[in-house]
Amino acid sequence: MQLIKNAQILLENQLITKDVLIDQGKINKVSDHIDYANAEVFEANGLFLSAGLIDVHVHFREPGYEYKETIRSGSQAAARGGFTTVIAMPNLNPVPDSEEKINAQILLNKANGLVHIEQYGALSNGLTSTHVTNIEGMSNAGAKAFTNDGKGVQTADTMLQAMIAAKHVNKPLAAHLEDNTLIHSGVMNAGQIAERLALPGITGLAESTQLARDLVLARATGVHYHVAHISTKESVSLVRMAKKEGVHVTAEVSPHHLLLSEESILLDNAMFKMNPPLRSQQDREAVVAALLDGTIDMVATDHAPHGEEEKQQSFLEAPFGITGIETSFQLLYTHFVKTGIMTLKTLLERMIDAPATAFQLEAPTAVVEGARADLALFDLENEYEIETNEFASKGKNSPFVGWKVYGKTIATWVDGKIVYKDNVK
Ligand code: DOR
Ligand code: ZN
Repeated sequence: MQLIKNAQILLENQLITKDVLIDQGKINKVSDHIDYANAEVFEANGLFLSAGLIDVHVHFREPGYEYKETIRSGSQAAARGGFTTVIAMPNLNPVPDSEEKINAQILLNKANGLVHIEQYGALSNGLTSTHVTNIEGMSNAGAKAFTNDGKGVQTADTMLQAMIAAKHVNKPLAAHLEDNTLIHSGVMNAGQIAERLALPGITGLAESTQLARDLVLARATGVHYHVAHISTKESVSLVRMAKKEGVHVTAEVSPHHLLLSEESILLDNAMFKMNPPLRSQQDREAVVAALLDGTIDMVATDHAPHGEEEKQQSFLEAPFGITGIETSFQLLYTHFVKTGIMTLKTLLERMIDAPATAFQLEAPTAVVEGARADLALFDLENEYEIETNEFASKGKNSPFVGWKVYGKTIATWVDGKIVYKDNVK
């Protein structure tokens, strides 16, 4: 038994102080005052206790790229960010693109994960876009959803066949949108800033044209189609239109597309290099508005750790991707909730309820009796500075280093067990 004393929990848009009793991995009781002689007490001192956050887009790199991240380090980073359930991407080596490989990956995630790790199956063999994988077999083996993330699906027929199969097993298909014929070796958003830095640009059309194709196919097949890391205002309009027309579509946006734009790129600094790239200020405003009005359903980090030396290279050479799972709640709480743009309730809805519903997860969405005790305790009052030496992730590639934020994770529980505790506690 564990007893969390004096935690603030969110009830109908208000923070109320409660005690929370945990027994056998579940919340046994939530009440104004609980005394339980045999419980191990955790004094929360008025900190904010939430259901654990959910991230449907993380890269944990194992097997294949353990120098960037392992399942252990990635899940430690997740816990340090306040996340208790994640869905891991399949751009690994080997790519989990068959029933056997999904089985092996799920076992590996279970053996090494400190949080709940669900797994995406690859939508095409080796993420090549050419042959659709055995989606039904992988679904039976436990794959939670399917994607080609890391690369766009270049042929309409591959996407169509994958959608038919995903619809058949009633699981979501998540799309990384990138038409290779429009990329032209680009490394950042096409526009004046790319020109000033003499770097090749990636047009937003590479994303939105493939999205338009996919939405037509999604309507025809009835699949649940999920847009990964949406980044342009044109994509937002397309999703808004498709939702109005009854297409089963959901969308995620990353913290960096909500908080940064191409204008943040002052120098050739690959900490700002990711795919899709940081877009224009107008695009940024469009994704923020869409997250507020629900056109974009959820936040997902696209946590993409890389080696230190890899990311010290120039924009032309460095790999795409930045870490995100240890800073996302904190950045969004600081910049959207504290500033009054979004309520805490809405932010949590976009980081817990929406992903849980869209991806049919068993994760709890509130601190209530009977729920699985996946919990995160945050300090909303004290400011701290984001520093890479504090990261649990092997990846130190964050453009947010030095930013001052609120919402530090003080402790995280998974199935009622503490998996992360801040060192001040
Ligand atoms: O920036 C990115 N990094 N975008 C992706 O789609 C893949 C990811 C990675 O795997 O590093
Ligand atoms: Zn992607």
